[in-house]
Amino acid sequence: MRVMKFISLAAIVMLISAFAQGQNTQSQTAPAIQHVPITNVPSNSGQAMFKSYCAVCHGTDGKGNGPAATAMKTQPTDLTLLAQKNGGKYPSAHVAAVIRGQATLPAHGSPDMPIWGPLFSSISQGHESQVQQRTTNLVSYIETLQAK
Ligand code: HEC
Repeated sequence: MRVMKFISLAAIVMLISAFAQGQNTQSQTAPAIQHVPITNVPSNSGQAMFKSYCAVCHGTDGKGNGPAATAMKTQPTDLTLLAQKNGGKYPSAHVAAVIRGQATLPAHGSPDMPIWGPLFSSISQGHESQVQQRTTNLVSYIETLQAK
């Protein structure tokens, strides 16, 4: 249980200063990453989860241009091109594995793409079925973003 508590305090990154000052041309403030605790967004909405958990880096449209993207060493992947880059077939199993932290990414081990499995597990009180539901709904939502 102690491990769970610790993980629930683990954080997702969010860019505050680019939001607040991005429009201000005088501002020289460098983008800064802020870590915030994960919020418990309902597991039945892939779209709501995507907005809260992924859009900060991948953008609300999934194209990889979220507000935190400029502060990343590795650019967030354009998630709308996953099918195109896979010969036209949306790689759902791969996407699920990436989300859960079971896939080997080129830059795996870089802290830039958070691993969501343990975070989802913590907000789901360790219920595997709910973690599975979160993953499935996210994977399905990202499929709707695919470029035609
Ligand atoms: C802190 C920024 C950040 C957040 C938040 C984030 N990602 Fe990512 N994501 C990245 C980066 C950076 C990469 C590229 C990593 C690489 O190439 O090694 C990436 C890569 C990916 C990939 C791999 C695509 C491929 O090439 O196979 C998928 C899928 C993905 N993210 C899905 C998600 C989902 C779903 C969420 C929300 C639950 C999410 N990401 C949240 C930064 C982020």
